Amino acid sequence: MATTTKKPTAKKTASRKTAPKALDAITMLRDDHKKVSALFDEYDKSRSATKKQNIVSTICLELSVHATLEEEIFYPAVRAALKDRELVPEAIVEHATLKEFIAKVDGKLPDGDMFDAQIQVMGEYVKHHVKEEQNEMFPKARDSKLDMAELGQRMMERKQQVLAEPQQIPKKPAAVSELPSEVPA
Ligand SMILES: [Fe+2]
Ligand SMILES: [Fe+2]
Repeated sequence: MATTTKKPTAKKTASRKTAPKALDAITMLRDDHKKVSALFDEYDKSRSATKKQNIVSTICLELSVHATLEEEIFYPAVRAALKDRELVPEAIVEHATLKEFIAKVDGKLPDGDMFDAQIQVMGEYVKHHVKEEQNEMFPKARDSKLDMAELGQRMMERKQQVLAEPQQIPKKPAAVSELPSEVPA
């Protein structure tokens, strides 16, 4: 019983091998925040030192890449668009503290209560920083004229670059004296 029903032709999907579609900048940053927060929770529940060490190393990489994208692309754009004199400088100073946390824990073997306490305090610090970004900076940035799709595209391209060559990630905190002191015109 030959049916004449033709097999539905596969829908022509965009099969071009292109980079994944970029998310808008704020969605991308919020997704990173969620991911890192889940990793801190996972650390909390873990008992094995090896597992903890792997989680810490993922946290440090995620935070370093994230901070690089913010400092190189997102923050300067926000600072210019909002003529901001407060939120971005404060966030950069907080990143410097975060990088000190990273330097202390990355690659170290979680060897007891003091190490766990460091991760705990680091997680609380990250939470505080994220809250300020999400509650203060992002809503203002969203209301500005910034093109979040374009920023997201640039951030995603930069992310792929730094993930391919992690040595491009600045290890040292930017010295506060190196920060632009004037609000861009
Ligand atoms: Fe940040
Ligand atoms: Fe962030």
